[in-house]
Amino acid sequence: MSYLTKQKAGKILVGDTFQIARQAALAKESHANVIDATVGALFDDDQQFYEYKTVTRMIKRLAVAKHYAYAPTSGGDAFKKHISDWVFGPYATMITNEFHHDVVATPGASGALYNTFMNYLDEHDTLIMPDIYWTNYLVMLGNINAKHLTYPLFKEGAFHFDAFVDATKKVLEHHQKIVCLFNDPAHNPTGYSLSLDEWTRIYDYLNGLVTEGAEVIVLYDLAYLDYEGETHLESRRLFEALKAIETDILVILAFSGSKSFSLYGLRLGAQIALSRNKQHIKAFKNAAVYSARGTWSCPPSTGPLMLGQLFSDDLQTKKFAKELDRARVMLRARAEVFLGEAKIAGLPTYPYRGGFFITIPVEDPDQAFDRLAGIHIYTIPVDQGIRIAISSIPMSLITGMARRIKNALT
Ligand SMILES: Cc1ncc(COP(=O)(O)O)c(C=O)c1O
Repeated sequence: MSYLTKQKAGKILVGDTFQIARQAALAKESHANVIDATVGALFDDDQQFYEYKTVTRMIKRLAVAKHYAYAPTSGGDAFKKHISDWVFGPYATMITNEFHHDVVATPGASGALYNTFMNYLDEHDTLIMPDIYWTNYLVMLGNINAKHLTYPLFKEGAFHFDAFVDATKKVLEHHQKIVCLFNDPAHNPTGYSLSLDEWTRIYDYLNGLVTEGAEVIVLYDLAYLDYEGETHLESRRLFEALKAIETDILVILAFSGSKSFSLYGLRLGAQIALSRNKQHIKAFKNAAVYSARGTWSCPPSTGPLMLGQLFSDDLQTKKFAKELDRARVMLRARAEVFLGEAKIAGLPTYPYRGGFFITIPVEDPDQAFDRLAGIHIYTIPVDQGIRIAISSIPMSLITGMARRIKNALT
């Protein structure tokens, strides 16, 4: 018996990434040769935290009183512009001209996801998502008692479109509302990115559902947007697909300042909505600000103010872009070595296109985790796989790792 509400009684966080990362940290204290592949954060090849020096410089420019003062709940107009320009890049004008859109500041992409779940899923609704996913989605859904339905993410190494369609049909049998979640590009945990054709096909199909009378909400978690492709421009190419939206689909993007600016602890993020229907955006803004104020109240001030400093200074913006390019090159180099060696060793991986993680398909993730922990390699067990955070492993340790994993798992 507890004094908790019925909803919360018995809920306990187990198998969380942060908890497994703690296990790896403890193992490091007693063994020198531990490889910690749990951490979804960026570290350089000297195993130092990957700090964007330009970002730190901008933060240091701010007066103490600015950091400590309350920020507007929504983040404010300047925040909205900076986030839209950064996220959409060369497509920002297209978004402004062709869509209604708005932005609300959130504590990380987590806040954006949670705010969306809270405001768009009630007891009749079911979130549709692939069967391989960032496990914290389940905690967020569990926290509001929301239902979900998964479908196989891959068929022959590509997005399983037919399975997605089947999942929508199942939901539509009961309820004319689709809320579907995509984590793209550089999906956590596989590193897969949908192609432009795959995105366009999805929007074409969803347009059809809206025409037939369904409400359609696409929740688009792009936490790893800045670690896909070789350049800022290339990583934004996927927004070309937004042009395929011809109906009243509501798209809500979850942006992570944790990843894009290496500001994990500062909780910088945004919930960005766009639609051809003005009413959807007005309702989004009202509800998002209301529930933000009703939960975390307002975002930490430092992130939005840092963006103001950074994006009002062309020289600093260019310097930051160069630092980000270096991070992409570093990740690519690690991925190439790991994937190249995995191929030679006969170690299968899910299709990787970019980002922090590579995942190895396994039938029993917990058993695979134990076997790898036995050789001091700490990974994250996910549904149908073992996730390796190449973001946090230096090149010197990546080399030879695929062979060791293959041997331990066989
Ligand atoms: C897929 C995905 N979405 C969202 C997040 C949340 O990031 P944050 O809340 O730190 O911005 C993470 C963090 O690991 C993630 O991997």
